[in-house]
Amino acid sequence: MSTLPHGGAVELSIAPRAASDADDDGPEEVSGTGIGPTGRPRRHIPEPALLDHHGPARVLAMCNQKGGVGKTTSTINLGAALTEFGRRVLLVDFDPQGALSVGLGIPAHQLDRTIYNVLIERSVGIEDVVLRTGVENMDLLPSNIDLSAAEVQLVSEVGREHSLLRTIRPVLDSYDYILVDCQPSLGLLTVNALAAADGVLIPLECEFFSLRGVALLIDTIEKVRERLNPKLEITGILATMFDPRTLHSREVMARVVEAFKDTVFDTVINRTVRFPETTVAGEPITTWAPRSAGAKAYRQLAREVIAR
Ligand SMILES: Nc1ncnc2c1ncn2[C@@H]1O[C@H](COP(=O)(O)OP(=O)(O)O)[C@@H](O)[C@H]1O
Ligand SMILES: [Mg+2]
Repeated sequence: MSTLPHGGAVELSIAPRAASDADDDGPEEVSGTGIGPTGRPRRHIPEPALLDHHGPARVLAMCNQKGGVGKTTSTINLGAALTEFGRRVLLVDFDPQGALSVGLGIPAHQLDRTIYNVLIERSVGIEDVVLRTGVENMDLLPSNIDLSAAEVQLVSEVGREHSLLRTIRPVLDSYDYILVDCQPSLGLLTVNALAAADGVLIPLECEFFSLRGVALLIDTIEKVRERLNPKLEITGILATMFDPRTLHSREVMARVVEAFKDTVFDTVINRTVRFPETTVAGEPITTWAPRSAGAKAYRQLAREVIAR
C-alpha cells in the first residue's frame, strides 16, 4: 500500500462535500415563453391530490438495457420526490450491482439477506428483508451480487417470469408506488420486472447512441404485454443528462420528441455533477440539496407520474 508523505495510508473513499443549495443549473425554460426543454409548450399538470388511504401500489419498472443512463439515479430521486407528495414508496433494487442500495447509504455487500433470498427461498418473506431508508415513507428491498445467481436458478422454476410479482404481492397494499430499478440487460430479471409492472419508465440519455437500443426495448415490452402482462404500459420516456448549452443535446432531444411524442415527459433532467455527489452522500438530491435544479426536476417528474 502506498503511503502519503506524512505516513498516513492513502484514503480511497471520498468524503461527501457539504451540500449547497444554490440553484446552479440555470433556469429550465426561457422565462415567459412557456416552452420547456423538450421544445414543446409545457402541459398543465394538476396539483397531486392528497391521499386518504394508501395502496394498492402502482408498480413502475425503471428500464433501459443501456447502462449509465440514469435508471438508478431516477429511481432514488423519483421515489424520494413521491414521498414529498404524501406517497408511500418501496424501491426494489433489481440489479446485482446493488447501486440503488449503495446510493441510499446501505452497505449492500454486507447484508445476509436480500431480494435474492425472497426470490429463491420459500421460507423468507419480503417483510424479513425490507429496510427503512433515511427518507421517511420510503423503504428499500436491497440487493447485492447474490442476485446474479437468481437469474440462473430461476430458469428451472415454475412460473419463472412471475417470481418478482410473487415476491412483492404481499406488500402491494402497503405502498402507493413500487419502483423497480432494473439491471442493464433484457434478461430474465428484467422480464420479471416487466411482468410485475403496471408501467415502464424509460430513462434515455441525451446522447447520439442512446436511441439505438430503444426499439429492442419497446419490442420486449410489447412481447411481455402480449404473453405475460396485458396491463403493461409505457408510462413515459425521461430524457436525462441533458445539456441545454450544447447543440448536440438539443438535437437528440428533438429526435426523441419526434419519435416518441407525448410519451416523453415534459420534465427533463439536466447533466450536473450534483448527481454523482449525492451517490457519495448516500441520499437523494431532494434531501441533500433540496432547492437545487435537480431536486426541483425530480419533484416535477413526480407530479407528472402521479398525473399519468
Ligand atoms: N443527470 C445527471 N447528470 C450527471 N450525472 C448523472 C446524472 N444522472 C446520473 N448521473 C451519474 O451517471 C452515472 C450513471 O447513473 P445511474 O443512475 O447509475 O445509471 P444506470 O442505473 O442507468 O446505470 C452515475 O455515476 C450517476 O451519478
Ligand atoms: Mg443502475
